[in-house]
Amino acid sequence: MSANLPLRPDLDGEAPYGAPEIDVPVRLNVNENPHPPSAAVIESIATAVAQAAQGLNRYPERDFPRLRAALADYLKAESDAHPAPEQIWAANGSNEVMLHVLQAFGGPGRTCLTFTPTYSMYPEYARDTLTDYVTRPRREDFTLDADAAVTAINELRPAVVILASPNNPTGTALPLEDIRRILEAARGHGPMLGAGIGSPARASDCVVVIDEAYAEFRRPGVPSALELVGSANPHLAVTRTMSKAFGAAGLRLGYLAADSALVDALRIVRLPYHLSAVTQAAALAALSHREELMAQVASLRNERDAFVDWLRAQGLTAHDSDANFVLFGPFPDRDTVWRRLLDAGVLIRVVGPEGFLRASIGTPAEMERLRRALVAAIGG
Ligand SMILES: Cc1ncc(COP(=O)(O)O)c(C=O)c1O
Repeated sequence: MSANLPLRPDLDGEAPYGAPEIDVPVRLNVNENPHPPSAAVIESIATAVAQAAQGLNRYPERDFPRLRAALADYLKAESDAHPAPEQIWAANGSNEVMLHVLQAFGGPGRTCLTFTPTYSMYPEYARDTLTDYVTRPRREDFTLDADAAVTAINELRPAVVILASPNNPTGTALPLEDIRRILEAARGHGPMLGAGIGSPARASDCVVVIDEAYAEFRRPGVPSALELVGSANPHLAVTRTMSKAFGAAGLRLGYLAADSALVDALRIVRLPYHLSAVTQAAALAALSHREELMAQVASLRNERDAFVDWLRAQGLTAHDSDANFVLFGPFPDRDTVWRRLLDAGVLIRVVGPEGFLRASIGTPAEMERLRRALVAAIGG
């Protein structure tokens, strides 16, 4: 008998999100870190998880204070920011962190605004929280038109604006002046909050999320929005993840820094005990190796810059990238190029503007294989 389920009408015909999971020698399609954890990191994680296992009959720490303190400490070392542990929130990947933001601030009759091309999960957070999803285009070079963003915020009164910096799939980072202007425009331009008996309707602030999933890969001199976090900007949240630079995509640990009142709003919508004791223990152990893990980032950055130069030397357009991937093209038939690379054992991603492809930065050997496969794919 075929299923006769009461699926929400807006989910009818929707497919689960995800890039193809194809087992090939060189996987450069989902912006992972190509380096597996070192023996020392594996040993620390194994010891921490074994210890956590002794208490698995109990629920984990619900608001994980030790992990929040360790993440705050990491951000201090990584940027010019000084968040307090109460200004940190975490969940199973930054995807879940941003879903918490939409659960707390979005909802029916409210709008989430973003600027395309950008990360393709944003419409899903909006859909899943019954929030209207509205996009405006980035400029042709993928930078953000701050004037257009200000106009859109004034017009739409969105509950949440999400801006990826560096942006996926383009690699473009946002200047702090633009973020400051958007934060200013967002003040008092969120949804109107209902009038009550004796109290008039009032305008809320729109929450501005700067998605810095790839921030550790930014080029020297490119600032992080973390330095704007705090009581001066109570409507700003900056999200980060251990999935990319930290080389721990399998761990599922994303986090954000924001004023503590915003964090407290997220605590309302999280499920109790959403971060398992095993995740908390493994994340704490990985964070204790941050220097070693961050050393890899420098070599990936160099590899990225060399790849951009090489692509340009081939006569292709390669966009400047502050992330661990590069968007390049244009190809008259990008699907054929993608297929030829796959046949040569190299998986990249068909994403972004027509004619363009995106490749994550791999090890030097993987990049050499990509370059050779690309020359062959374009040549014939
Ligand atoms: C821009 C951006 N934000 C967020 C994420 C989510 O990362 P995670 O949920 O692994 O932290 C990704 C993943 O590719 C991304 O590209």
